[in-house]
Amino acid sequence: MSDSVDNLDDDLAEIVGYLTVSRDVTGHRLTRVFRDWVEMAVCAFESNDEVYLDVLDRHMPDHCDQDDRREVAEAFSEALGELLTSTLDKQRPVIGDIYEAIGANSDAFGQFFTGWPLCRTKARMTITEDDALEATVDDPLTVADPACGSGRLLVAAANRLHDIDPSAEIAVSGTDKDQLCAHMAVLNLVIANVRGRVRFGDSITMEYHREWRVDPRVRPPVQRVDDPDSPMDRLEEEDEIDEYQQVQLTFAERGEADD
Ligand SMILES: C[S@@+](CC[C@H](N)C(=O)[O-])C[C@H]1O[C@@H](n2cnc3c(N)ncnc32)[C@H](O)[C@@H]1O
Repeated sequence: MSDSVDNLDDDLAEIVGYLTVSRDVTGHRLTRVFRDWVEMAVCAFESNDEVYLDVLDRHMPDHCDQDDRREVAEAFSEALGELLTSTLDKQRPVIGDIYEAIGANSDAFGQFFTGWPLCRTKARMTITEDDALEATVDDPLTVADPACGSGRLLVAAANRLHDIDPSAEIAVSGTDKDQLCAHMAVLNLVIANVRGRVRFGDSITMEYHREWRVDPRVRPPVQRVDDPDSPMDRLEEEDEIDEYQQVQLTFAERGEADD
């Protein structure tokens, strides 16, 4: 196991320990185990048993038997339980720490996530009391991160707004061209009780393969949409123009306004 994994605190190391059960049973690399576990965790929040079982089938190589399958399924479920507990205890998104520690991030995609203290500072600098006053159910504050990674900036934005006014409404939007990152962002939003959507796609070419709508108030809290419309398609609908314009209110643009 890498030095970075050794540097994880006990709770997160425990999650890696559960994933290591599958690595040892299946012979997969830990990064592959992590990717399949994260996808299955998203399926669990979607109540999507069919895809959950498909991913588990794909995960188990031919040399494994039913006992191995059961052992891996149990370890994955323990890992998810520990992820929920750790995220809630530490009051911050943690799954990206594991992703980086096991070396699952791609240098080619520039996958280096913003540290949590900086996410919080950025949110404090950009979200004001006026934003909270204006953020209603009918007209929530919208925040977008077009290269969202594990969605930390979005969670920090929601936390900041709710620190100012717990009843203020926010709808976040994240996109990542790496499906694993999109999945992690879905998990971080749903665990942190943040409403929004996450897209798997390319923010530059505006090609989107899949979208997840996250609303912790409904059951199941995650809904998956295959082949979502592009923003350009939606612009044809007059009543969608407002939504599209609001989504442009990115951290980057707000940061420029503060400069
Ligand atoms: C530097 S990381 C930042 C992640 C996050 N915003 C944060 O601050 O923690 C950049 C992320 O953008 C994603 N990415 C790179 N090019 C992209 C594109 N054209 N469209 C969508 N996502 C992209 C990468 O996969 C990576 O997860």
